Amino acid sequence: MKKTSIVDIYTQNNYLHKVVTIYGWIRNNRLSKIGISFLTVYDGSSTQTIQIVASKLLSNYYTEIIKLTIGCSVKITGNLILSKGYLQVYEIQAKYVRILGWIDHPELYPISAKKHTIEHIRNFCHLRPRTSLIGVISRIRSTVFQSLNQFLNSYGYLWVSTPIITSIDAEGAGSMFKVSMLDINNRSIIKNNLNNNTDFFKKKVFLTVSGQLTLEAYACALSKVYSFGPTFRAENSNTKKHLTEFWMLEVEKSFSNINEIFLFAEKLLKNSIMDVLNNCISELLFLQKTIDKNIINRLNNFIHTNFIIINYTDVINILLKNKHIFTDDIVWGKDLSSNQEKYLVHVYFKAPIIIINYPKMLKAFYMKVNDDNKTVAAFDILVPQIGEIIGGSAREDRIQYLDSRISEMGLNKKDYDWYKDLRRYGTVPHAGFGLGLERLILFITGIKNIREVIPFPRTVGRADF
Ligand code: 4AD
Ligand code: MG
Repeated sequence: MKKTSIVDIYTQNNYLHKVVTIYGWIRNNRLSKIGISFLTVYDGSSTQTIQIVASKLLSNYYTEIIKLTIGCSVKITGNLILSKGYLQVYEIQAKYVRILGWIDHPELYPISAKKHTIEHIRNFCHLRPRTSLIGVISRIRSTVFQSLNQFLNSYGYLWVSTPIITSIDAEGAGSMFKVSMLDINNRSIIKNNLNNNTDFFKKKVFLTVSGQLTLEAYACALSKVYSFGPTFRAENSNTKKHLTEFWMLEVEKSFSNINEIFLFAEKLLKNSIMDVLNNCISELLFLQKTIDKNIINRLNNFIHTNFIIINYTDVINILLKNKHIFTDDIVWGKDLSSNQEKYLVHVYFKAPIIIINYPKMLKAFYMKVNDDNKTVAAFDILVPQIGEIIGGSAREDRIQYLDSRISEMGLNKKDYDWYKDLRRYGTVPHAGFGLGLERLILFITGIKNIREVIPFPRTVGRADF
């Protein structure tokens, strides 16, 4: 018998009054006194569940069906009809219910019918995809991932895989995890090997913080490229917006400049949200009921709002004019605090903003120095609730400037010699940006903590599974 998924039942109308076979898990088992069990079954293909009507006439009714608890896996065959109940559209009149897997000690099953907090189920990352909420987030995450790839593909961008194990510090910020084969319990072995370069790669290597620099090598040959993969930051930022391992989309374009690239980034963001509105409406309705009452409106407004483009220096002047509101310092050359960012996005502009031309000391060595020699052609896109969602810049394409930035920042010149080749041999103006996938999913779903929007979160002190 052909397998039918629940999403098909709800989206294709050729199953009605036919015999269907579904595979899934029990979400609820309500027994009626007249000898009928109403089973609610989900299979992960949709937020929808399907009601199964199983009667005492089934051979395993008393021996098995009435004992089914939340989480048991089942195969069910029966007639799909319109439901007489008002809570659901369809139901399946079961001809056959086969139990594939029981739940050991249902009273101990962490994903029980009892409502648990998001924080509690975070302790069971291997079981939490069985909850409706994580199912919804997973489907939205997958839609967004596909949307970003398709969008870039439609603009002629080529996907390039950049290395995860790397010997370069792409951001020049030093917060990298070291990768080694050495016995971490033996300090003298570590010391000897590191001094003599006898570890696995015969040099120090790290988990990448960004694929940008190697991506630039491909942009300087293929013109339009992107990479999409996990990145790692060994930073002690234990906030609701930071992960230690997160997914970053990086886009790089040759023969380009900062203005063109930030407008493209805005378009890409809006397109991904449009795709969610078009493809995940039942997921959004679920979130509208449970997480954010205004979600559909909010997303719809977002795609129709022009982002505000503003210089960092003008931002500082706005903040200075309103300095009575803030307890934190407002100084040209300092990063904006999250309160200041919130004020700009939520109160002052009431719109997403693109801040451009940051002081060079705030930004990475590879960003193109502006004519004032104080700022760089960098941009950050800030959105409501999240703050920074995208960071990017024009890249320094003049070798002398790049050289002096590398020295200024105290970086090891030798490490970047290959990168300077891209400027030595047929240099081109180019620009790009990085989008944090989880920040985007946070923004879309209205979920408060980034630990919920990645399957197995890694944060300070936490790397389970
Ligand atoms: O601003 P970042 O650090 O930029 C780069 O790494 C550049 N090399 C990107 C480029 O131009 N190719 O990071 C880019 C984005 C941020 O705007 C944010 O959305 C996300 O990555 N991000 C994080 N997301 C979750 N947890 C963290 N710890 C993050 N750090 C950055
Ligand atoms: Mg940034």
